[in-house]
Amino acid sequence: MAWYQVLVLGALLSVSWCTEDWTFPPGFKFGAATSAYQVEGAWNVSDKGESIWDRYTHTRPEDIADGSNGDVACDSYNLWQTDIDNMVDLGLHYYRFSISWSRLLPNGFANKISEDGARYYNNLIDGLLEKGIEPLVTLYHWDLPQNLQDLGGWTNPLIADWFSDYARVAYSLFGDRVKMWLTINEPMAICDVPYNAGAWAPGILSPDHGTHLCNKNLLLAHAKAYRVYDEEFRAMYNGEISLSNILFWFEPWTEDDHDLAELAIQYCAGRYSHAIYSKEGGWPPAIEKIMEENSKKKGYSKSNFPAFTQEEIEFIKGTFDYFALNFYGAMLVRAAEEGEQLGPWPFGDIPDINAVIGYRPEWPENIVSILGIYPEGLRKQLHWLKENYGDMKFLITENGYPTRGEPNDQDRIEYIEVHLREILLAIKEGINLTHYTVWSLMDNFEWADGYGTRFGLYEVDFNDPLRPRTPRDSAAFYAKVIKNHALDEE
Ligand code: BGC
Repeated sequence: MAWYQVLVLGALLSVSWCTEDWTFPPGFKFGAATSAYQVEGAWNVSDKGESIWDRYTHTRPEDIADGSNGDVACDSYNLWQTDIDNMVDLGLHYYRFSISWSRLLPNGFANKISEDGARYYNNLIDGLLEKGIEPLVTLYHWDLPQNLQDLGGWTNPLIADWFSDYARVAYSLFGDRVKMWLTINEPMAICDVPYNAGAWAPGILSPDHGTHLCNKNLLLAHAKAYRVYDEEFRAMYNGEISLSNILFWFEPWTEDDHDLAELAIQYCAGRYSHAIYSKEGGWPPAIEKIMEENSKKKGYSKSNFPAFTQEEIEFIKGTFDYFALNFYGAMLVRAAEEGEQLGPWPFGDIPDINAVIGYRPEWPENIVSILGIYPEGLRKQLHWLKENYGDMKFLITENGYPTRGEPNDQDRIEYIEVHLREILLAIKEGINLTHYTVWSLMDNFEWADGYGTRFGLYEVDFNDPLRPRTPRDSAAFYAKVIKNHALDEE
């Protein structure tokens, strides 16, 4: 039996209502996602400024598996109409894409708006709406303008002003038509990956300081951008805005590791959510305490996990209209043994909480080492969020499966299907989940993996200058789910 058959069987056996139909609630929406650096290309066209990913891939090609970059990527800067045609074929209700900050504001600051950048996004948004596809726009998907990085990037507290100024420009230009916004995609990938692991742009290793400064400043930047929308645009445009977090579900490795699994969830989800979504705001108390102890152990006289002032706590708290969740998989945690060497989070273990990461043997293997496939983890994660942060609207803003690119992507189909079944179960159990987004509409530049790892419903031929897109089997599957507004009976 293939891995996906085991999962489907498991999902079916775990529900008593499996003979009922698997229909999505009326109004439930299906979408697909991409991000600017991963698909647009045209990295230096017109007056576009350099981003940290331009700089990183050009100066450190050895850090990208195939030495590639996003200079051309899917060429969606030129081929956006083809992309929309493909979305129409899928029947998507919405398309999640991101704006390239340095395409819209070439030097990162709001004193100069690129006409070409504004035209590009206006065309894309208008083209989508003409076909009845809603735009869900992310303001920041990892491609910081390089000159802001030169000033410290996310470790400089002024980023909250720079980011909210940029957000204001985007709302003013596009807010009449864009009703769904995400400020920042995956803070963990922005702060933890570069500063804890020294990987990905800007590739600055600074686990004791960089990660935490980035974490705090990013939350303030999100909050400021939210408040700009709330105070200056909401009455006029009536849209919704939040940020999207990547969350891994943590399972205890042994019976003794339940508390540690909870701490790992607070570490992963809490550091980037508690301040925004919890009733009390601020850092998760358990994490703040551990960080202080860690700082002292390392010889610092006080905690290098930056405290919030009461004013900052109030400023960040409640800055959301929904919870946006990117979900790919799960991990096991156990306490490290005395003297055990730990890899850096998120590509190894979690040294800050002395935890070792692992995967259950029965979790299906796939080509990405940090992806433990455990669809039930998604449902557990949703319940955890509801219990900890309250009843609110949830959107899955990413979920997807990596392959090496074969057109018959049965594994991807099954991955999407089993996650959709968990979503339906979660809805039945009272989770108010309204949107599901596949990552990704098409193959694209997969960060440090270059073009070797493929997530697309559509294959893109990166060897062909015309970048043709070809639907995989998963595209037909997804189109059918959307059309039927239901999964097949099993
Ligand atoms: C990111 C995407 C990325 C995908 C697959 C997500 O965490 O938002 O940019 O391509 O994972 O790795």
